[in-house]
Amino acid sequence: MIQPHGNTSLNPLYISDEIERESLINESQQLKSILLSSMAAANAVMLGGGYFTPLSGYMNLSDSLSVSQSLKTDDGLFWPIPIINLVDDVSNISCGESIALRDPNLEGNPVLAVMNVKSIESVSDADMSLMLENIFGTVDKNHPGVASFSNQGRFLISGPIKVLNFSYFPIDFPDTFKTAYEIRNEIEILGWDKVVAFQTRNPMHRAHEELCRMAISDLSADGCLIHMLLGKLKSGDIPANVRDASIRKMVEIYFPPNTVMVTGYGFDMLYAGPREALLHAIFRQNCGCSHLIVGRDHAGVGDYYGAFDAQTIFDTVPDGALKIDIYRADHTAFSKKLNKVVMMKDAQDHSKDDFVLLSGTKVREMLGNGIAPPPEFSRPEVAEILMDYYKNL
Ligand code: ADX
Repeated sequence: MIQPHGNTSLNPLYISDEIERESLINESQQLKSILLSSMAAANAVMLGGGYFTPLSGYMNLSDSLSVSQSLKTDDGLFWPIPIINLVDDVSNISCGESIALRDPNLEGNPVLAVMNVKSIESVSDADMSLMLENIFGTVDKNHPGVASFSNQGRFLISGPIKVLNFSYFPIDFPDTFKTAYEIRNEIEILGWDKVVAFQTRNPMHRAHEELCRMAISDLSADGCLIHMLLGKLKSGDIPANVRDASIRKMVEIYFPPNTVMVTGYGFDMLYAGPREALLHAIFRQNCGCSHLIVGRDHAGVGDYYGAFDAQTIFDTVPDGALKIDIYRADHTAFSKKLNKVVMMKDAQDHSKDDFVLLSGTKVREMLGNGIAPPPEFSRPEVAEILMDYYKNL
């Protein structure tokens, strides 16, 4: 099986030993505490599940700037996006002490993790702009990722963490939320060697479904890991429970049994396009996947990135820095001429009108009006779940 990123084994920071965890939970009640941002909490959940192997906690400023500018930590580890904990008040915290990190997303803000504070640094406006420009390609606050990233505090607390739970994810998505550790184990038990991951933050329409099918076939893969984002999204995006239901229905009806794993991970969407695609690749490698599908405008938003920037960035990855490969998908849509979903590069004789192309806005409008998109665009069973959701909005 493919090795985890930068390490021979996975490094989940969740304290799995029950006795140790209980005693740490008790201890944490006596510690000084801070309330995390949702982004920092999601980082803790990802670190807890082994997704961010080999990191041992939150990065300091030097690593964060180095990752932003040169895609590597000071130790030379390939990494595309700073994994940080930014807060606005550090008045009662000192270096060297252990502090409790409280969860902003659960009632009563229970302790999510315990951190050993190694450094407390303030982030200047110039440092923040540099990070934003490098990670998102813009400092425009209309970009939803830039808005969430820069709306955190300006004190960066770094150091190793021990994770005590996985926040709301196992409660809200008991069947779908999985740690990288669990996915790796399941892949091993299934005996899959070549596994292609599909990242998604959307319900899966025909193009998405066929991308998975084409990737499995072209790569002669043993299986596909559909791995959906379960954390926060920008307004207007479809909530995870609705996406989960529609994806499960589609897989149940249209894929042979035991060829697809439907799972999810606890992270807020960054909409960082190419940089997020690199992070996606790292954590799918940690899950045990040999390939990641990267299609059109992967992890993008608006017009901030070129349609295939998230593919070309992989050409700049130093040799050997990643073990996972990407499966490059061209713009995919239903061809009326060929009566099937195809990649546009394989249909050179087609004009735009030969494809069934619907914008996201158009599809939302149809669903909102109780009109199912055509079956060439969306499976009727998927459309039904989505129409139900829009009806009750
Ligand atoms: S993402 O933000 O999670 O990337 P989405 O769920 O829409 O968004 O896309 C999941 C994956 O499918 C991404 O790799 C994306 O590039 C790819 N994709 C989505 N629609 C198409 C399409 N019509 N043609 C090619 N690739 C697509």
